[in-house]
Amino acid sequence: MYANPSLVLHSDDIAPGQFNWKSPSNLAIIKYWGKHGVQLPQNPSISLTLENAFTQTILAYKPKESKEEGISLEFSFHGEPNEAFKQKIVTYLESLLPILPFLNQLDLTIQSGNSFPHSSGIASSASSMSALALCLCSLEDELFKSLQEDTEFDQKASYLARLGSGSACRSIYSKMALWGETEQAGGSSNLYAIPQEENIHEVFHNFHDDILIVSQAEKSVSSRAGHALMENNSYAAPRYQQANDRLQQLMVALKEGDVNTFGQIAEDEALTLHALMMTSQPSYLLLQPNTLQMINKLRTYRQDTGNPIFFSLDAGPNLHVLYPESVIHEVRPFIEGELVPLCEEGLWISDWVGEGPEQL
Ligand code: DP6
Repeated sequence: MYANPSLVLHSDDIAPGQFNWKSPSNLAIIKYWGKHGVQLPQNPSISLTLENAFTQTILAYKPKESKEEGISLEFSFHGEPNEAFKQKIVTYLESLLPILPFLNQLDLTIQSGNSFPHSSGIASSASSMSALALCLCSLEDELFKSLQEDTEFDQKASYLARLGSGSACRSIYSKMALWGETEQAGGSSNLYAIPQEENIHEVFHNFHDDILIVSQAEKSVSSRAGHALMENNSYAAPRYQQANDRLQQLMVALKEGDVNTFGQIAEDEALTLHALMMTSQPSYLLLQPNTLQMINKLRTYRQDTGNPIFFSLDAGPNLHVLYPESVIHEVRPFIEGELVPLCEEGLWISDWVGEGPEQL
């Protein structure tokens, strides 16, 4: 949709420059799990945009010195060269050449870093790929003045982010974003996410998501491999139907400020995601004993106190604890007293629904 052979530079009289974007991670409430074609989701998903878990990326550029074809990139992560990350980004930028052919004409330098501890077990593909996609859109707009409208800019950033990592396309928008075509939302698309801030009750505008680190170890099965295993999962078809049905219920709850229905769906989706892993062939398990202990403690606490506190999970063992701002003084002592001792090295991140990416 964005292939554009006219985005080429006709002179090398380009002043060097740089762009600096900070972009957050997000937590899906309806999960994206299963894809087809080129990064197209099997079902629509919707997520909370976080505030404190973010990647900051600086993209610097100058006219290419050598005559060599191909992407010219220097890359560092937290100030250190990182060959594995660099190779991933070169492959990604190469895949974007039909869309951004000028990338071949520049020497690029990318410096990137995360706000959360490196390899804390927190997925960084959403924040890192969205930060990079935003830098690329700033660069295109600087060189060609082609993305002057904010909505156009955001949509293209979301589209490019999706090609790097599906969930990254949702990080472009403040508060909440929806990705995937659905009758529930006009303008929704499989190609990019759309903002949801206008469609959600105020109670969700500053909802908390404390991330409790159960294990900092790298996942034994990557998300990419996990998505691929959905192709032969016998629950795949009913799962995609279920995601659509839950989305419909969730959109009503979001609009009405129905925190209990929201929390119920968040928990059901989290456990469904892990059930899909357990029922893949080969089967695998990312939950840890401490994840289950935390879930049991949280549910008992909720039953005993009536406080609206819920959990979600990403594709890993770490627990996301969700609650409205109004109960922070009641639930924080429980989280710090009962759940944090089950974290690896007591590591946890206080996070909440945020304002979305920021250009620095
Ligand atoms: C469980 O977006 O990491 O977090 O598109 O292969 O990069 P790729 O996968 P990725 O998958 C995210 C899966 C999830 C659910 C979600 O964020 O919707």
